[in-house]
Amino acid sequence: MHSDKIEKFLEKQKTALAAGGQDRIIAQHEKGKLTARERISLLLDEGSFTEIDALVTHHYYEYDMQKKKFFTDGVVTGYGTVAGRQVFVFAYDFTVLGGTLSQMGAKKITKLMDHAVRTGCPIIGIIDSGGARIQEGILSLDGFADIFYHNELASGVVPQITASIGPSAGGAVYSPAMTDFVIMVEKAGTMYVTGPEVVKTVLGEEVSFEDLGGAMTHGTKSGVAHFVAKNEYDCFDKIKTLLSYIPSNNAQEPLVVQTDDDPNRMDHNLINKIPENSLQPYDMKEIIISVVDNRTFFEVHELFAQNVIVGFARLNGKTVGIVANQPLYLAGALDIDSSNKASRFIRFCDAFNIPIITFVDTPGYMPGTNQEHNGIIRHGSKLLYAYCEATVPKITLVVGKAYGGAYIAMGSKNLRTDINYAWPTAQIAVLGSEAAVKIMNKKDLDAAKNPEELKKQLTAEFNEKFANPYVAASNGSVDAVIDPAQTRPMLIKALEMLANKRDKQLPRKHGNINL
Ligand code: HXC
Repeated sequence: MHSDKIEKFLEKQKTALAAGGQDRIIAQHEKGKLTARERISLLLDEGSFTEIDALVTHHYYEYDMQKKKFFTDGVVTGYGTVAGRQVFVFAYDFTVLGGTLSQMGAKKITKLMDHAVRTGCPIIGIIDSGGARIQEGILSLDGFADIFYHNELASGVVPQITASIGPSAGGAVYSPAMTDFVIMVEKAGTMYVTGPEVVKTVLGEEVSFEDLGGAMTHGTKSGVAHFVAKNEYDCFDKIKTLLSYIPSNNAQEPLVVQTDDDPNRMDHNLINKIPENSLQPYDMKEIIISVVDNRTFFEVHELFAQNVIVGFARLNGKTVGIVANQPLYLAGALDIDSSNKASRFIRFCDAFNIPIITFVDTPGYMPGTNQEHNGIIRHGSKLLYAYCEATVPKITLVVGKAYGGAYIAMGSKNLRTDINYAWPTAQIAVLGSEAAVKIMNKKDLDAAKNPEELKKQLTAEFNEKFANPYVAASNGSVDAVIDPAQTRPMLIKALEMLANKRDKQLPRKHGNINL
């Protein structure tokens, strides 16, 4: 009974699964790339994928397009689980019309995004696409606009993650850019607004796809890529790790993952990470790693604006977002890129209920015409805005220099920070001693018989008075000067004290962050 109908259904299902056909699947593999469905099965728990809209086709007849109809229409969409938690996923299928976006493809993606937002689940997009389907013209462009609109609707409600494992050209790059995290695969993902051909025609510049918009370019120079993956397997591993740290939506807390790392564990060697001479560089990551659960730190934007470190870790099982200066690069000074990097990370943490722990050792904002002319004032102030705006628990620890505007910007007390600690090695002042003495004592130094000797004496006096945490501690700008060995237990105690913190912004349409 009904066997003909079942047969017809099975035939259609088989055709849909065959994507753009065996030849194109072989061509995809020959390029070293997996197919859309292979990618989805790498990402999701085995057997958990349920596809939606597999039988969608386009309805476009210009340019003989009726002869080029494929089920799915270039994007595979559906839902499944990662480590048992539901996620929604769409993967452009390059074997079907180059994974180009049609009106129907856009409808599939936005339908999926609506489901994700209503059910409070992360959205993961896998990009391998020729962009707007040229034959469909404005219908395709409107489709992109609808995706952008849905990116904005989902922003701050559910996490949005992009895997870039193929071309992403033209305005199509703006949807990934509107998501929270972009992972690009080396020698596979490319993103550019105008390709090498157009660059050559308009500017006469010769540039390869990889140099213009490859994973390393966006991972190190533009900051578009938060992660650079060695290959597709590494890419999906990174997405799984990322998901393990973050909640599924803005109404949830991140999962607590208990480890056997003692919350009272001390590290008596921690103080030795800071050089006696405060001008000497050192690796702040060693301090972070020593303090967090099981020495595990999942760094975001590892290769971009390395003078600031951001990433996720756990303290007594609870996810925290770490923001830290990195004295190994530019002496830990704040510049345009690092301000943007840290601000965006802080805003993600705040949107998704992740407490922020800040480690400070910075001589200040970066001086110079390059920074001023490119807008360090505009960009640097985003950091102030982001810290002030964030209502999640915020704990700051000054381990070394905290001078001037950068002291304020790195989660100082009056930016609505809950708990501020300092090590005895902290130097909280308006300026470093040398610069301060030059300004305050200019006349005395000009008149002195031995200005070098006087400068030395005044600098030592300034250091004694101000290059320490005790002035800040005497007026409550620092809540406690702590023994470095006690850092882990003290941070965990503060987090526990703040576990039920309630803090709300006054009602308004939205603030006007200085973009
Ligand atoms: C229609 C397209 C297409 C497109 C590729 N194809 N891009 N069809 N519209 N945009 C088709 C090809 O004709 C080919 O079909 C198949 O997809 C595979 O493409 P190839 O070129 O053979 O593959 P490859 O050599 O790997 O090159 C991939 C590519 C290249 C780098 C993506 O195809 C390319 O540069 N395409 C154009 C990219 C682009 O400019 N897109 C528009 C951007 S503007 P057959 O049938 O021959 O296999 C845009 C606006 C968005 O996206 C606006 C949002 C605001």
